[in-house]
Amino acid sequence: MQSRSAASPPESDLAEAVRRVEEEKEEFLSIVAHELKTPLTPLKSVAQLLRLRLARARRGERELDLDSLETNLATIERQVDRMDRLVTDLLEVSRIGRDRLELILERVDIASLVRDVVQRWTEATAEEGRHRLELEAPPSLEVTADRQRVDQILVNLVGNAVKYSPHGGAVHLRLEERPGEVVFTVRDGGIGLAEDEIALVGREPFVRGRRAHGFAGVGVGLYLSRLVAERHGGRVEIESEGEDKGTTARLILPR
Ligand SMILES: Nc1ncnc2c1ncn2[C@@H]1O[C@H](COP(=O)(O)OP(=O)(O)OP(=O)(O)O)[C@@H](O)[C@H]1O
Ligand SMILES: [Mg+2]
Repeated sequence: MQSRSAASPPESDLAEAVRRVEEEKEEFLSIVAHELKTPLTPLKSVAQLLRLRLARARRGERELDLDSLETNLATIERQVDRMDRLVTDLLEVSRIGRDRLELILERVDIASLVRDVVQRWTEATAEEGRHRLELEAPPSLEVTADRQRVDQILVNLVGNAVKYSPHGGAVHLRLEERPGEVVFTVRDGGIGLAEDEIALVGREPFVRGRRAHGFAGVGVGLYLSRLVAERHGGRVEIESEGEDKGTTARLILPR
C-alpha cells in the first residue's frame, strides 16, 4: 500500500477539492436557473392568452369573460410569488453567509400569523383539491419575533408538508403554548424521510432528500428556517418514521 508522507504537498487533493467546488457551483447555478425559468413558461402563455382575449373583445368578436380573466391573473400572481420566494430565500442565504441577517423584533400574535399562512396555503391548494389543512390554535398567542421572517418559516414548513405529500390528504397543524415557548407543529402523511436524511436536511443550504429531486425546489427553505429560528433563540425539528410514513416539522420559539 502506498502512503503519502506528511511533507508532500497534497496537490491532487487540492485539485480534486477545486474540481468538486466547481461542479457544485455549476450544479447550483443550473438548479437555480431551472427554478427561475420554470414559472416563466406559464407566465408567458397566460400573457399571450390574455392579449388574444383582449384583441377579440376589442374587435367585438367575443365579450371579455371576467371570471377567466381573474383566473388568468391569479395564475400570474402565483408564478410571480414563486419566483419572488426563491429570490428572497437566496438573498437571505447570502445575508446569513455574510452574517448580515438582522431581526426586526416586535410583539407578534403568532396565532393570527399562523391562521393567515394556513389561509394562503388553503387557497393555493384549493384548485387541486387534494389537501385538507386542519388547524388547531388558540385565538391569540404573543411572541417577540421578526414578523416577516417567522411568516417565511411558517410558509416554508407548511409548503414542504403540501409539496412532499403529492397524494394529498390531511395536513395537521397545531400551535400551542408551553412554559416559556410556543410550538408550531406541521404533520403530513407524505413521502417521509429516511433516518440518514433527517440528519442532513436543513443543515447546509442546497441539501435535498434523495426523493425530493422530482419536486420543485432548491433546498434552502429548511436551512433558512432553521437558522432564522436559531437567531430567535428557538429551533426547528424534523421527524419521520421513514420513507412514505409522513413527516413532522416543528418550529419552537421562545415567548
Ligand atoms: N415535509 C417533508 N416531507 C418530506 N421531505 C421533506 C419535508 N420537508 C423537507 N423535506 C426534505 O428536506 C429537504 C430540504 O427542504 P427545503 O425546504 O430546504 O428544500 P426544498 O423544499 O427542496 O426546496 P425550497 O428551497 O424550495 O424549499 C427537501 O428537499 C426534502 O428532501
Ligand atoms: Mg421547501
